[in-house]
Amino acid sequence: MVTLQDIQKNPELNALIKAANQVLAAIGYTEHGPRHVGYVSHAAAELLRELEYPERTVELAAIAGLIHDVGNSINRVNHGITGATMIYPILRDMGMAPAEIATVISAVGNHEEQNGRPVSPVSAALIIADKSDAHRTRVRRGKFDPTDIHDRVNYSIKKNWVEVDREEKVIRFAMTMDDTSSVMEFFLIYLTRMEMCEQAAALLGCRFDIVINGVTVNNQRSVELARAAIAQASNPAQD
Ligand SMILES: [Fe+2]
Ligand SMILES: [Fe+2]
Repeated sequence: MVTLQDIQKNPELNALIKAANQVLAAIGYTEHGPRHVGYVSHAAAELLRELEYPERTVELAAIAGLIHDVGNSINRVNHGITGATMIYPILRDMGMAPAEIATVISAVGNHEEQNGRPVSPVSAALIIADKSDAHRTRVRRGKFDPTDIHDRVNYSIKKNWVEVDREEKVIRFAMTMDDTSSVMEFFLIYLTRMEMCEQAAALLGCRFDIVINGVTVNNQRSVELARAAIAQASNPAQD
């Protein structure tokens, strides 16, 4: 069985992770190196562990997290799909079972908001882990550009975390932002990613709450609550 440690030690995959980060640095993107993929690997696995998925599914999420961005070594455009295509023969040569490879490549090939959808628990966990990595440490050292909205938004996020409420079936993405940016700017660049996280949480049977500075800024219960309010207004006697 191919383990997370086997993936971490694979020189070919490590070279591709490094190369992907170099390409993105060259075109001015935020940090996508070992720190980013390490965070995503850990966060995706923790999410499924908290939701009590089998240990091997948890490990496949950790593996997918580590190698989800290698496609950037070719080009940022469609890097989920190119990355999935690149890792197939590497995982096969390492001896991973075809059904497990299929789980990993479909997660990697669907993690971008431009062309991806949550397709499995591993895919959903990868999406939430990847999109929740917004933080000031992602602004490249010495490269902070105050006129760049991505730099401002990332820099303003001092703390971020994902927590799971198993009882209430809620995945909560919480962060603290300072005045370097604003909630509006956060959504200007993260709206489609946050919508993708809502879809991913739904696949895991959960609601996705986005909490910024202690306030829930999306409201996934809105349809349910509006329906209840209308029912009550049309039948006040039952109050
Ligand atoms: Fe990516
Ligand atoms: Fe990523």
